[in-house]
This record gives sequence, C-alpha cells and structure tokens, in this order.
Amino acid sequence: MAGGGPSRRELFVGGAVAATGLAATGGYLAGRDDDPVAAPVAATRPEPAVVPFHGAHQAGIATPPQAHAAFLGLDLRPGTSREALGRLMRLLTDDARRLTQGRAGLADAQPELAGLPARLTVTFGFGPGLFKAAGLEKERPFDELPRFRIDRLEDRWSGGDLLVQVCADDGVTLSHALRLIVKDARDFAEVRWTQRGFRRAAQPRGQTQRNLMGQLDGTVQPTTLDGAVWADRGPAWFHGGTVMVLRRIRMDLEKWDEADDGAKEFAMGRRIGDGSPLTGRAEHDDPRLDAVDANGFPVISEVAHIRLARAGRPAERMLRRGYNYDEAVSADGVIDSGLLFACYQADLARQFVPIQRRLAGSDQLNLWTTPIGSAVFAIPPGCSPTGWIGETLLK
Ligand code: HEM
Repeated sequence: MAGGGPSRRELFVGGAVAATGLAATGGYLAGRDDDPVAAPVAATRPEPAVVPFHGAHQAGIATPPQAHAAFLGLDLRPGTSREALGRLMRLLTDDARRLTQGRAGLADAQPELAGLPARLTVTFGFGPGLFKAAGLEKERPFDELPRFRIDRLEDRWSGGDLLVQVCADDGVTLSHALRLIVKDARDFAEVRWTQRGFRRAAQPRGQTQRNLMGQLDGTVQPTTLDGAVWADRGPAWFHGGTVMVLRRIRMDLEKWDEADDGAKEFAMGRRIGDGSPLTGRAEHDDPRLDAVDANGFPVISEVAHIRLARAGRPAERMLRRGYNYDEAVSADGVIDSGLLFACYQADLARQFVPIQRRLAGSDQLNLWTTPIGSAVFAIPPGCSPTGWIGETLLK
C-alpha cells in the first residue's frame, strides 16, 4: 500500500485481511481464530498507538475500529466558494496530520492534551452540498439515496455538506481533536449534527464484537478492499476514495428483550450465542442458503437479515464499521439506543442500495429497528505529507 496507508501489520492487528494474497483464502476483515497469520500477531504484539495519516487512502476506514467515535456533520456557510473550501481543507488536514501523530495543532489552546494519540484517526467526507458549493456537481461519485419504506428520518441526524469522522481509543484524545477541528471549521461551516458511538475497549482485537442487541456483528466483511471499498472507477479525482453511508438506526431494546432466542435467531439466520449460521457450527462457516428442514422450509428463513443482506458476489461486499450509541435515559428507565451503521463502498448504487432495498422490503430485524438518520459522503483519497485531503477535487 502506498505511502502511509494502513500497513499489513495494522490490518492484521485488527484481524483484518485486506492485504494481497489473503483474498484468495476467503479470510474476513473481522478476524478468524484459525487465520494462521492474524492470530499470533494479535495475541503477542501491542498495537501501535499512532496510525499513519498519509497514504493512498484516508485512515479510519481500514483501520481496526477504535473504541470511541464521533461523527460530525457540518453545513457550509452560504457563499463558501471552491477556493474557500480549499483553504478549509488545508487547515483541517494540517490539524489532523498533527493530532493523529501526537503533536499539538497550530492554534491548539491545550497542547498538553495532544500527546496521547491513542490510534486517533480523522477522516473527511464530502456531501452533496459541498459539490454544489464548489460548482463541481458533475464530479459527485454518488446519487442521493432513494427513500426506503422503513425510514423515519429526522433532519437533526441526516444530511450534511462535510463529514468529519474522529475515532480514538481514548475519550479525552477524541474530545480534544474534535474541539480543535470544530474551532478551525467555524468560519466556514456550522455544525448540523454530532453523533457519538462506542465499541468494546476491553476485548482482544481480531474477535468480532457484539452490538447492543447482543449479536456478533461484523463477521462477514470484504475479502479484498480494492474495488470493493477503494474506488478504481468513476471520476479520476475519486480513485482511492470510497463512499460512506451513515445510518442512525434506533433499536427497540425493550421489545427485543421480550423475544426469545428462537425468534431472534430466526430474524438473523445466525445463533445469538456464537454467531454461527443456522446451517453451520462456527461463526465463520459459510451459511447454506439453500438448506431446508424436514418440512421443506428454508433453515435460514426468507426474511432473515443475513440472507437479504448478502452481496451478490464476495467481491462486492461493503465494509461495515459501525458503532453503538446510547443517549438519554427516560424518566421511566428506557434508554435511547441503537447503532451508528457506518459502511464504506466503492459504488453506492451497486453495493448499498440493492441491499438496503431488500432489507427495507422484508427484513425481520425491522420489527426491532428503525432508521432515524441518514447521510452519504464521498471520502476523498488520502494525501502525501505535502498535500491535503480533497486536493484532487478542489485544487
Ligand atoms: C440496527 C441495524 C442492524 C443490525 C443490528 C445488524 C446486525 C447484523 C448482524 C448481527 C449480522 C450478522 C453477522 C455479520 O456478518 O456481521 C449482519 C450482517 C450483515 N448486515 Fe446487518 N445489521 C443492521 C443493519 C444493516 C444495514 C442497514 C445494512 C445495509 C444496508 C446491513 C448489512 C449487512 C451485511 C452486508 C451483512 C453481511 C451479510 C452476509 O453476507 O452474510 N445491516 N448484520
């Protein structure tokens, strides 16, 4: 991988399998205990606390997910020109390249807080409004999403011209980075929404994590990132970039608590206990979608999430890198919680849209989940030590 993109080791530390050669083995980005390379590395080496900023791709996507995330959706101030966007992105790139390497930002009021990068990554994305403001709508590498029948979208969690995704293994590091970036963006943009999420910090890397419904979530991932996640077609400026969808999906956990394991497993097509498909014994066994029971019914039902979410070909899989959220607890003790479903793909129309359409049509999981926010961003490719994020579009 060119420049400072994720190294082979970094990918493996997260159990990731994006590097050449392994694609053919059918390994997954989320780790496999039987992976001959990933398991010993994950078990014996501490993780580097610094994630390289420079490279062919932005960090924070192939990077093994950190424990904390903040997604920030910004709206550009009226009249922000292409030239102004260039200035903004130079400024924000400079903040990100410093902070991620454990150095204070230029206008950092609290440089003491910059010394512990804790795998900080800062990733930028461009929404439809940014292309419009820059007069570059022809260069937008995605069409806006159709409305899905399950959507109950709220403006306060949707849309946005500019995305800043900040992830770190330390909450103070994240908060400090966010503060500096928001301050520097202030003259150009205002904050539309902030969405914070978390994952387990105290779980060895390489193991699939559980979401708030208790399911192992992240088992099936792309076998290779090139072409599936990193774009190699479409507008030239976008090669090496990806399209991100962020969906805020509320979970009705009170209702989920009332369901028994049979109903939960029917909805998913996988077992709650070990994440194995209903047709197999281990988490990474391939689901057999054509298997039928003694009565001739499909073992993995027609409405099971994993059947409907399956990509046509493994090479078309999206990368899922979601975070749990929970916010206020109501007076009667109900927590507002769910999933910040974040996925990355080279081609929105070919990868995300058909899957989301099928899920919206008949996914049994919809009994307990409701999308309340939705936003799409083009994540530009990475940059060199003398460059800035977005230069291939805005220069
Ligand atoms: C709260 C909402 C959701 C929950 C709790 C959820 C949970 C899960 C779980 C537990 C699995 C099985 C294990 C795995 O492979 O990771 C899975 C698989 C998957 N989900 Fe979801 N999911 C949600 C929403 C979505 C959405 C909105 C999409 C895309 C539009 C999606 C796409 C996928 C895909 C592509 C797979 C892998 C399918 C395969 O090839 O086996 N999920 N999800």
